[in-house]
Amino acid sequence: MTAQTETAQRPVLVVDFGAQYAQLIARRVREAGVYSEIVPHTATAAEVAAKEPVALILSGGPSSVYEKDAPSLDPGILQLGVPTLGICYGFQVMAQQLGGTVANTGLREYGATDASLTGDGGVLLGGQPADQNVWMSHGDQVSAAPEGFEVLASTTATPVAAFGNAEKCFYGVQWHPEVKHSDYGQDVIVNFLHKAAGLPADWNSGNVIAEQVARIRAQVGSGRVLSALSGGVDSAVSTALVHEAVGDQLVAVFIDHGLLRKGEREQVENDYVASTGVRLITVDARETFLEALAGVSDPEQKRKIIGREFIRAFEKVQSELIAEAAAEGDPMRFLVQGTLYPDVVESGGGTGTANIKSHHNVGGLPEDLQFELVEPLRTLFKDEVRAIGRELGLPEAIVGRQPFPGPGLGIRIVGEVTADRLEILRDADAIAREELTKAGLDGEIWQCPVVLLADVRSVGVQGDGRTYGHPIVLRPVSSEDAMTADWTRLPYDVLSKISNRITNEVREVNRVVLDVTSKPPGTIEWE
Ligand code: XMP
Repeated sequence: MTAQTETAQRPVLVVDFGAQYAQLIARRVREAGVYSEIVPHTATAAEVAAKEPVALILSGGPSSVYEKDAPSLDPGILQLGVPTLGICYGFQVMAQQLGGTVANTGLREYGATDASLTGDGGVLLGGQPADQNVWMSHGDQVSAAPEGFEVLASTTATPVAAFGNAEKCFYGVQWHPEVKHSDYGQDVIVNFLHKAAGLPADWNSGNVIAEQVARIRAQVGSGRVLSALSGGVDSAVSTALVHEAVGDQLVAVFIDHGLLRKGEREQVENDYVASTGVRLITVDARETFLEALAGVSDPEQKRKIIGREFIRAFEKVQSELIAEAAAEGDPMRFLVQGTLYPDVVESGGGTGTANIKSHHNVGGLPEDLQFELVEPLRTLFKDEVRAIGRELGLPEAIVGRQPFPGPGLGIRIVGEVTADRLEILRDADAIAREELTKAGLDGEIWQCPVVLLADVRSVGVQGDGRTYGHPIVLRPVSSEDAMTADWTRLPYDVLSKISNRITNEVREVNRVVLDVTSKPPGTIEWE
């Protein structure tokens, strides 16, 4: 879909040169209150023009402009008369196309680097300290700016580290302003958008809700809509948005597969319904899932079984609802899906960007459904989805929730899944979550899987006796997007509190261990 059909806003287009930075840049632009979308560097000038961009940002990338197959940019794009900011590789591409010189000097800069402003730094860097810490990652460098450009900053190794041409509204920086390690990075983006390109900050949750509600009404008309709630943020917010738009034309289904965390079903059935007024049907499928999982320890087989059972349970209730709707003369034609923008970009949806993340759609919906999809979060990043959920008045326990895998606790029990083991894991998980929240650490942690090593026992001494219990693993990770992650350095006193409480309060657990592996090489989940 194009920008024009996704939202009414004209976008800042981030041209993706193949590194993972394009999404980060797009998010930073939106943090500055301006709508942005990502396009691949293979987009032609005509395709770019058709999206009517208000500005362009050329992203960084892993290549050298000297490589034979270096990603290129249709030269017509820089002739469109659109304000443009080049970053790192994008800065070099810009320099090269506009008649500057990019040299392969053998001088490299990686990581924290000192940059000095030249003169007042122009509109891009004006008002910032004369010397600042920036994040670099490049081999080639711009050795001469194109004619008509002013050099705005330099470093010891790079004479042209930033340039600008105010008349054309063309700017570029060699460093990465989108990463937090660049001290004044966001100011560079803000200055480019608001001061140089003159764009207003009008992208906010209120506007997004109003626009999506109008779009949903236009798509659905008086049709009936089905939605599957998982207890997670995306399905909760997409369902609430559709409900806001079409009220009781929507019915939501929640399948309790018994692999949820403590209190999640109640949060959906009570708090979510109370705050939205959604008509909800809960299917209690706990027994069915447990029976299907009996005797299975292999993680992939567990995923397949959970996925299959989920589809069966959903199809059963779906056919009942379809029959009900048909009997009332109003067929059920639409299905809500909480697809987010990163999924659209990564699966190449209209942008053709490289696929860097394999998808985990286990526990998702049947593929052959004869429904038209309603996807009100297609243009949004996760933090924006949360902001919208809050604006819609959803419970914080749901909106602030960590990502949770579709197969749930089923893949956090290493070994066979049984009702007893689920109970143990649920209790341990609830304690860990409670203590992390109490310590104010939710913002630092991307997610903290709590894992039960059900096939491992170790000796312990608890009370007066010797025990032979199971270990619980804490896996707190910090991440931007789950593609890479680092283990979170939790304070010892918090770890100690969690460990004491779990070993005291959860039967059969006599040991708590901490996972200190980054991703890669370890994945976030254990299975
Ligand atoms: P890994 O373990 O691959 O996880 O580092 C990356 C992110 O994906 C989640 N995850 C899943 N989500 N179905 C899902 O819906 C799955 O089978 C699945 N496996 C992992 C994981 O929680 C993390 O956020």
